[in-house]
Amino acid sequence: MNTQQPSPRLFQPAGPLRGRLRVPGDKSISHRSVMLGALAVGETRVTGLLEGEDVMATAAAMRAMGATVEKSGDEWRIHGVGVGGLLQPAAALEMGNSGTSTRLLMGLLASHAITAAFTGDASLSKRPMGRVIEPLSRIGAQFTPSPGGTLPLMMTGARVPVPIEYRLPVASAQVKSAILLAGLNTAGMTTVIEPVPTRDHSERMLRGFGAELAVEEADGDRIITIRGEAELQPQTIEVPGDPSSAAFFMVAASLVPGSDLVIENVGLNPTRAGLVEVLRLMGASIEEMDAREVGGEPVADLRVRHAALGGIEVNPALAPSMIDEFPVLFVAAALAEGRTVTRGLDELRVKESDRLAAMAAALAAAGARVEETEDGLVIEGTGGEALRGTADEQITTHLDHRIAMAMAVAGLVSRNGVEIDDTRPIATSFPAFEALLERASA
Ligand code: S3P
Repeated sequence: MNTQQPSPRLFQPAGPLRGRLRVPGDKSISHRSVMLGALAVGETRVTGLLEGEDVMATAAAMRAMGATVEKSGDEWRIHGVGVGGLLQPAAALEMGNSGTSTRLLMGLLASHAITAAFTGDASLSKRPMGRVIEPLSRIGAQFTPSPGGTLPLMMTGARVPVPIEYRLPVASAQVKSAILLAGLNTAGMTTVIEPVPTRDHSERMLRGFGAELAVEEADGDRIITIRGEAELQPQTIEVPGDPSSAAFFMVAASLVPGSDLVIENVGLNPTRAGLVEVLRLMGASIEEMDAREVGGEPVADLRVRHAALGGIEVNPALAPSMIDEFPVLFVAAALAEGRTVTRGLDELRVKESDRLAAMAAALAAAGARVEETEDGLVIEGTGGEALRGTADEQITTHLDHRIAMAMAVAGLVSRNGVEIDDTRPIATSFPAFEALLERASA
């Protein structure tokens, strides 16, 4: 984060959101394009890269291991070292707030015979790394994490990595991707079995770079196999807009009366589009315009108009396809007519914060009626009436960008406004968020 001191802010009630806006590039795709570009021999060019702190942490790590990652005009240019060619970094890899950088890079390093230390901020240093340490140890990498299997952590990749077949015990695209990336420099076939499908950007992009990767479906499982010692070919990549960033504007425009907003260039990969489906089930008006493909991913412009929302029971099977969107969905539920029930969301407890506890406390502080259960929230909505907003209390964001942005949206539909303790974490994924919000509701 850029400044040392927390940066509190009161998000005031606002008028309708109107006009057109474009959200920044997809965070997941941005990380992967920098990592794979850094492993391809030759120049990869990327436009639309998310320039948030998380992706910049990935870029710095790839530079520290020998790649060139530079911006030239609107384009990022990456010169890779080749699969197997990563160099020993001279200092600890500083991951900031980014779980994706950490877990995917641990995978990459697991099959390179180098030693590296990973450090992160207070939020990242609480997050579980055992879920990647376990499979990557089977490949032959060695780890010395902090107590509890967390950062700071030291690892040494395998000199002769062993291909594994691994069934994911948690629905995690980060764990899947870590293993597939380790498989890139492992002789033979590495297999990941996914009982529940998660975002498939790694699979799409590995194929795009020329890796031999097969996906089969059997008995409800997705079986993904990658052939190792791959040679990656440099690519030209256009990163689509991030649906997880668009989510804040989809909910804001749905909730604020009179809104009619077009969010351009939103990635709608089915493994990411769960929120659109759930908001529509709640009665939202979201129209997909000019559906097309960008960078091998489905994309559309979304026209979102204000609509009265109704509470629903959210199907837990949709959770992986909207895992980062729950904080803002909870805000939508707080303004809907009737009760919204969510469950099966244990994974939200190990994100940048415990998002169930953080959002239950935040919404209660803003005057919403919310009950926290073991694995979800139950919210009684106001039926469209504005929330009270915060009184003397600030919302604690726990270094979590999505709590900050979700509660900023709550501020728009409150009487007193919502004051949050720190806006700095927003820069991890969406540096222009506040400016775009002000412009849309001006
Ligand atoms: C991500 C996967 C998800 C998501 C995170 C980004 C990715 O995490 O929450 O923001 O880019 O692979 P999990 O895989 O841990 O669910």
